[in-house]
Amino acid sequence: MTAQSQELRALPPDLDPNRLPQHVAAIMDGNGRWAQQQGWPRILGHQRGVDALKELLRCCKDWGIPALTAYAFSTENWGRPLEEVEFLLTLFERVLRRELQEMQAEDVKIRFVGNLTALPASLQGEIKRAMLATAQNQGIALTVATNYGGRQEILQACREIALAVAAGELRPEEIDEALFEQHLYTAGLSHPDLLIRTSGELRISNFLLWQLAYAEIYVTPTLWPDFNRVQFHKALFAYQQRERRFW
Ligand code: IPE
Ligand code: IPE
Ligand code: MG
Repeated sequence: MTAQSQELRALPPDLDPNRLPQHVAAIMDGNGRWAQQQGWPRILGHQRGVDALKELLRCCKDWGIPALTAYAFSTENWGRPLEEVEFLLTLFERVLRRELQEMQAEDVKIRFVGNLTALPASLQGEIKRAMLATAQNQGIALTVATNYGGRQEILQACREIALAVAAGELRPEEIDEALFEQHLYTAGLSHPDLLIRTSGELRISNFLLWQLAYAEIYVTPTLWPDFNRVQFHKALFAYQQRERRFW
């Protein structure tokens, strides 16, 4: 490793290592606009978006942030032109196949959240394979929200709980936050401390509605494919300037 790359991998000195978010969530928005700005088809933006996610993952690992959750495909995204939807689903599959070995080498534990059963069977297969293969890894927890919708997640948790009540396995007064969370896709994962949204949109677009209740929100006009280490540093710096309140 060169001195320069070592310097890049070290936590920037203006960040306090003891006050880093323990879980960062990202709404990776702006791929289409990025491509259009270059005069390219939107799908090339998605392709570049994968590189930006890889860079962010590496950066979290280098800087000691143990969990990253990225929004890759929302339940609403099915409404996009068919070719774009197909491109995205194929891209996820290709990336999973291509990156599995490196994820192992980097000790990444990958998990997918969302309504996975509605995804193409071949993609479901790659997802299962990657989750199983990396289940014991402890370097960093990467969660990818695919065919994910926060409202749907809450509804399916309600359904599961209602079934348990109807079956007489649970009393309504036993339903508390801890129990409810066990029925979310993200069961066992801490809540994100920091939500980053790129490309300037001031909304959460049905992402982690329950889990983001107290997250600090950072929105940058930078489009996702341009989101890099320098941008992430800025987001973390802004995060550390905030006074977090849980009351
Ligand atoms: C985000 O980029 C990626 C996905 C939703 C899959 P967009 O495709 O939403 O890009 P913009 O917002 O149209 O620029
Ligand atoms: C949110 O981006 C979903 C993902 C990044 C996967 P969108 O571009 O789909 O969200 P809206 O349409 O701006 O709300
Ligand atoms: Mg968008």
